[in-house]
Amino acid sequence: MNETPNGSVTVIGLGLMGQALAAAFAGAGHPTTVWNRTPGKADDLIARGAVLASSVDDAVRASALVVVCLSDADAVRDTLGPHRAALAGRTLVNLTSGTSGEARELAAWTADYVDGAIMAVPGLIGTPEAFLLFSGSQEAFDRHRDSLGRLGTATFFGTDPGLASLYDVALLGVMWGMLNSFLHGAALLGEAGVDAAAFAPFANQWAASVTGFISEYAGQIDKGGFPADDATLETHLATMKYLVRESAAAGVDTEWPARIQALTERAIEAGHTGGSYAALIEVFRGRA
Ligand SMILES: NC(=O)c1ccc[n+]([C@@H]2O[C@H](COP(=O)([O-])OP(=O)(O)OC[C@H]3O[C@@H](n4cnc5c(N)ncnc54)[C@H](OP(=O)(O)O)[C@@H]3O)[C@@H](O)[C@H]2O)c1
Repeated sequence: MNETPNGSVTVIGLGLMGQALAAAFAGAGHPTTVWNRTPGKADDLIARGAVLASSVDDAVRASALVVVCLSDADAVRDTLGPHRAALAGRTLVNLTSGTSGEARELAAWTADYVDGAIMAVPGLIGTPEAFLLFSGSQEAFDRHRDSLGRLGTATFFGTDPGLASLYDVALLGVMWGMLNSFLHGAALLGEAGVDAAAFAPFANQWAASVTGFISEYAGQIDKGGFPADDATLETHLATMKYLVRESAAAGVDTEWPARIQALTERAIEAGHTGGSYAALIEVFRGRA
């Protein structure tokens, strides 16, 4: 059964993200009930028409869709654990960051459990640029698809409740890898008097090219072969050594590029001589 248009929503947790989620629901016309451990964080939301519940139990019982966004899974267990009975017949959407194991454990609480990950900062919530990843109960997700779509662009990955969390950490890893490389490069160029702002447009242009490599290498990984149609691992290794040497000469930390070099050397030592960069997947898989 589809939810009624603009069905009621409860948001538990009014930190930076929870407030943005509740504001998006209330702004889109959903009757919105909120609760937070520390009082006072609901004032702006009440001014936008949200209702502050006096207890967690009241908050859960107020809506067919209960969204929780707290610091971590322990906080979710502490806050909602004593009110599991009230969850019966409602959908719990957990937008708290956590591990796939924690998501699977919380999924045992109710058949209508959907785990979610938010790939956005609070300021983007309610816009299509915010993308949100979901997995868990297909039926519950379908029932509340329109409501969850108020928060941003929603993608459902299937019935394993842990998948959204796995995508989340994998995508954050992509972010940290890119940001570390940019920061390392900015430190290196900074030693030559180049501002980070001058480096940034080139870093962005190159990052766009690298997204093409990702698509190409994904195909190689899934086929299990790593033909070097572009450059061999040995060619990469030779230039990596320049990055390490330049860093050392400039007094810039060498740990990041040296780590990349070490991973590449392991792939070559494991027999991927002449292979493409995608062969490093075997190192990450623990097979090299
Ligand atoms: N902010 C972002 O850009 C962003 C982006 C993607 C995902 N997320 C995820 O969203 C979640 C919330 O992040 P946030 O930025 O909103 O964090 P936050 O501003 O620090 O808010 C944390 C929330 O958790 C509550 N809380 C913590 N421990 C609790 C406990 N033991 N019992 C009950 N409530 C507890 C806090 O209540 P009090 O007000 O009482 O302290 C507050 O409502 C995190 O899992 C985070 O990883 C955040």
